[in-house]
Amino acid sequence: MRTKIGLIEKKKRHSKVEPVSKVINQKRCRRTTICRRGPSVPMMLQKLFDSCREVFKGPGTVPPPQDVQNMRQILDSMKPEDVGLSRDLLFFKPGSVIKGTPRVRYTTIYKCTNFSLCIFFLPRTAVIPLHNHPGMTVFSKLLLGSMHIKAYDWADPVKFESSMPSSSNARLAKLKANTVFTAPCNTSVLYPTSGGNIHAFTAVTPCAVLDVIGPPYSKEDGRDCTYYRDLPYSSRSDCIVEESKEGEGYYGWLEETDMPKDLEMEGVEYLGPKIIDTVC
Ligand SMILES: [Fe+2]
Repeated sequence: MRTKIGLIEKKKRHSKVEPVSKVINQKRCRRTTICRRGPSVPMMLQKLFDSCREVFKGPGTVPPPQDVQNMRQILDSMKPEDVGLSRDLLFFKPGSVIKGTPRVRYTTIYKCTNFSLCIFFLPRTAVIPLHNHPGMTVFSKLLLGSMHIKAYDWADPVKFESSMPSSSNARLAKLKANTVFTAPCNTSVLYPTSGGNIHAFTAVTPCAVLDVIGPPYSKEDGRDCTYYRDLPYSSRSDCIVEESKEGEGYYGWLEETDMPKDLEMEGVEYLGPKIIDTVC
């Protein structure tokens, strides 16, 4: 039986993925003061991890520009091999036939209360629908493939208050991205209230995206994931917002929805290179 999971990691149902190397054994890691690892730790993955340790200090942390820049530089230079992936894997071959709804899989490289490192695997045509990241800073690095990203930020609530339809929970949002990214490409960053905090991924080809999230989703701490559907701005004739006065960009109405029934994400075991956690 398959476990339904949203973007919050609930119950892991491990299944082996592809030829990456060894499993990170976090439980064993917690029991020791220093985790000794072999010499084959990929430099960029370790650098990314060390940087996350420095930057993410817990809920409420919004990294200052210099830290964002540093993290960005590290991620920009990362390659699929840094996390044990290869474009030669069968998964990434174009033309693979998908039966039924394409399933999104994810693997967790590391997770603590301050941040998480995860890779999402999307088969061609798979969709992660519009969802938010409350109180989070998220770095997304597309490692392999092509992916369409649509992203919104909430429109200024004061400016747009009078235009909000009272009969619906729809809320006006400004479109920040609506384009196809193809690896290798630069890292995108979103912040708790800006940068495209609400986004959706659609796989144009099979793809893998590395997400650095600080802090991670936590229902207990009020950082649950909400899903949305977007309606065209023009669908509300009662709206009095004048787009031209707001400069460039487009607007849409976002309406909360339940987690789509066919959004099944399967947690798979991380078999990539290990990281060294000296404070675990
Ligand atoms: Fe996301």
